[in-house]
Amino acid sequence: MTKQPRKIIIDTDPGQDDAFAILLAMGSPEDIELLGIVAIAGNVPLALTQKNTRMICELAGKPQTRVFAGCDRPLSRNLVTAEHVHGKTGMDGPALPDPTMPLQDQHGVDFIIETLRREESGTVTLCPLGPLTNIAQAFLKAPDIIAKVQEIVLMGGAYFEVGNITPAAEFNIYVDPEAAEIVFKSGVPLVVMPLDVTHKVLTTRARVAAFRGLGTEVGRVAAEWAEFFERFDKEKYGSDGGPLHDPTVVAYVIRPELFKGRRINVEIETKSELTLGMTVADWWGVTDRAPNALFVGDVDAQGFFDLLTERLARL
Ligand code: RIB
Ligand code: CA
Repeated sequence: MTKQPRKIIIDTDPGQDDAFAILLAMGSPEDIELLGIVAIAGNVPLALTQKNTRMICELAGKPQTRVFAGCDRPLSRNLVTAEHVHGKTGMDGPALPDPTMPLQDQHGVDFIIETLRREESGTVTLCPLGPLTNIAQAFLKAPDIIAKVQEIVLMGGAYFEVGNITPAAEFNIYVDPEAAEIVFKSGVPLVVMPLDVTHKVLTTRARVAAFRGLGTEVGRVAAEWAEFFERFDKEKYGSDGGPLHDPTVVAYVIRPELFKGRRINVEIETKSELTLGMTVADWWGVTDRAPNALFVGDVDAQGFFDLLTERLARL
């Protein structure tokens, strides 16, 4: 029996690395049926993330994609953004034309609820690539959908790699720790791509050259996004490129065998200002807290980039 493409909803705050994840999904129709994309406020405000999402769809030649705006701020905190990493537009690097495709009128949270109520239970995977506000709001507004989610594969958190926005916390979790707590305690099967694994997929010179070597508009834009995005991490960590965080989520949906992790308990710090947003990962099983997530720590990095480049070539 031929494998059916997995139905996914991407929740995203583009963000150059988010763009790679969206393009990877769009270049993989045999593996992924992209039901829709919901923008969230994160790297930059919602007005920009929803616009950037549509620009990415048009770059991929997919203007029929349904793009929704979700929440414009965290559940109960002020928004924290990351222009210092992604630039003022959130997608600095190459100049792209303003989008002409429509933004859907329906709120993104209602789209998530409606989709999960409509599709067969256990057949829709949620792929959050930014703060978890939209997912948490959907669960709060419609608890009946929680049992219908097949799996949540998310980029967020850190343990051995420690934080990137504070010494203790990774950005996506830090922006809305209350939302993250709702998601991590929901009981939905979770796959977590923390900095521990995303810092192993670096945009080395050879890999960026492979993007550019595609000889396509997508390849050129991808190389220029990488060259802008990597400058922050190269300076901060002295690394050999920038970490392509978010496409690890979509690569896992397509080829989970590229990754290795451990099923453990992960809880979110929501009280202490010092460690707010920390993903407290019981990697060594020192508590009796029940495992709730596959916490991914390792990846076949070249296999990941080969898959990413091969699928970008299709757009
Ligand atoms: O900490 C990395 C995460 O924060 C990535 O998803 C990046 O796009 C930003 O949202
Ligand atoms: Ca992101």
